[in-house]
Amino acid sequence: MSETFPEQYVPAQQPTAPYLEAVTAYGLRGSTRFHVPGHKGGAGADPGLRSALGENALLLDLPQDIQGIDVGPSPTPYERAETLAADAYGAARCWFLTNGASQGNHALCLALAGPGTRVLMQRNSHASVIDGLVLSGGRPSFVAPEYDPELGMAHGVEPRALERALQRTPGSVEAVFLVSPTYFGMATDIAGCAEVAHSAGVPLIVDCAWGSHFGFHAELPGSPLALGADAMLASTHKIVGSLTQSAMLLVSGSGRVDVDAVARTVRLLRSTSPNALLMASLDAARRQLAVHGELLLDRTIRAAAQTRAAIAAIPGCELVGEQFVGRPGIAGWDPLRLVIDVRGTGLTGYQVSNALRASYDIHVELATHATVVLVLGMGQPVESLERFAHDLAETLKLVSSSGGPSNPVPKRTVLTQPPVDLGHETAVSPREAFLGRSEAVAVQDAVGRISTEAVAGYPPGVPTLLPGELVTAEVVSYLRELIAAGARLHGAADPTFSTLRVLV
Ligand SMILES: Cc1ncc(COP(=O)(O)O)c(C=O)c1O
Repeated sequence: MSETFPEQYVPAQQPTAPYLEAVTAYGLRGSTRFHVPGHKGGAGADPGLRSALGENALLLDLPQDIQGIDVGPSPTPYERAETLAADAYGAARCWFLTNGASQGNHALCLALAGPGTRVLMQRNSHASVIDGLVLSGGRPSFVAPEYDPELGMAHGVEPRALERALQRTPGSVEAVFLVSPTYFGMATDIAGCAEVAHSAGVPLIVDCAWGSHFGFHAELPGSPLALGADAMLASTHKIVGSLTQSAMLLVSGSGRVDVDAVARTVRLLRSTSPNALLMASLDAARRQLAVHGELLLDRTIRAAAQTRAAIAAIPGCELVGEQFVGRPGIAGWDPLRLVIDVRGTGLTGYQVSNALRASYDIHVELATHATVVLVLGMGQPVESLERFAHDLAETLKLVSSSGGPSNPVPKRTVLTQPPVDLGHETAVSPREAFLGRSEAVAVQDAVGRISTEAVAGYPPGVPTLLPGELVTAEVVSYLRELIAAGARLHGAADPTFSTLRVLV
C-alpha cells in the first residue's frame, strides 16, 4: 500500500550521499576501463603505491564524465550532492572545490572584483584573497581587525570599523571580504557587519574556512549565511573531516552575488580532471555533518571542556576562549580550538610546542610567542583529549627539572605593535605589482618604492606589506623589530629581510 505524505513530512535526503554512492557503485563493480587514469583502478599502478593507498582508493580514483555519476539525466548524483550541501548550509548554491578554500577566494575575486574595481577586505585576510585580486585585477581597500598586543593576536572586524572603512573608501565598493572565525577561533559579529555592508549596498563575503561546523550545534556561532552573509567559504577539510584540499563555496539566495558569474569563475579555475576522492569525501562529510554532526560536536565540546579545566589547573597555563567574547572584534568563539596562553610557564609557545613533540610525539596546529593552539575535529577521538592535559603537565615538569627556560618570558610581554596606520589602499593594483618587472633591493633602499611581495610577521599574522603597497620607513623598522624579537616573516622572498622585491 502506498502512502502519500504532505510535503513537509517527506524525509530529508541528508542521510544519502549520492556522489559517494555513485562513485563506489561504478568503482567497485569491475567495469572494463578504457579511460583515464592510466593506473586502471590500481591494476597498472606501482605496487608500492597500491599497498600504501589500498585497493579501494585506486578503484575509486575516477575521472570526470562517467555515465551515472556526473553524466546522465539531470540531476546527476554529482548535482544532487552539491544541492544537498547547499541545503545543509542554507545556501542557494554550493560548489565542491578540489583546490581548497583558496580556489574559492580566487573564484570570488574573479567574479566580484574585475579589473579596476574596488573591494574592501579585512587586512589579515588569507593570502588567497590577494592572490585572487592578482588574477582579477581588482583593487583592495583595507579594514583593520581588532588587535590584542599582549597575546599578539588579531581578532575580527567590528561593524563600526567596517562602516568607517566603507565611508572613507573612494568610489563604489563591489564586495566586502571578511574572515570569521580567526585562526584562534574568534568569531566576528557577522550579523552586524552584514547590516553595515547591505546598508551600503555591498555584498558580504565571509571566509569561514575555519568554521565549516558553525551553525550545526547550539553552542557554536551561527553559520555566516544564516547571519546574513551573501557568500561563504567552508574549508571542510579543516574541522569537518573531508579530505585535505577539498572545500566548499556557498552562495546565499540574497541575489547580491551573481550565481552565474561565480559558476563561470569556478569553472575557469577548475581542472578538467577534478579528484573524485576529494569530491566523494565532501559528499560524505556533508552527510556526517548534517545527520550526526550535532551529536559528534556535542561529544567533542564536552570532552574539550574537561580538557580545558584540566589545563587551567596546570601552573602557568591559561585558556584563551569564552572569556574573550565581548571584547572588540569577538562576538563568539569556537570551543573546538584550544588556545593555551603559556607565558606563565616562562616558556614561549614555540618552546612548549617543541617540548611536547620531543617528549610525547604531540604535534599542535600552531605555536606563537604566547600560545599553543590545538585544533579539534568534529569527531575528535576523546582519548587523545583526555591524555593531553597530563602530557602537557609532564612536559612542563620535564623542562623545569632540566633547568627550565634559560631566558624566561615575562608574563606580560607586549609584542611590537603593527604600525597603526598600515595603508588603507595600495598604490597600484596587486596584479600590476605581481606581474610587473621587479628587482631585489636592500630594505633601506626600498622605502618610497612599491612592494611586489606580501610580507606578514607571525605573530601577529597581519600582512604588513602587500603587493602594490608603498614601502614606508615605519613598515621597514616594524618588520626589522619583529625579526629581532624572533618572529618569522611569511611570504618574504628574503626571510632575513635584508632585501625586498620592489617594482622597477
Ligand atoms: C582564513 C583562511 N582562508 C582560506 C584558507 C585556504 O584554505 P585551503 O587550505 O582550504 O585552501 C585558509 C587556510 O588556512 C585560511 O586560514
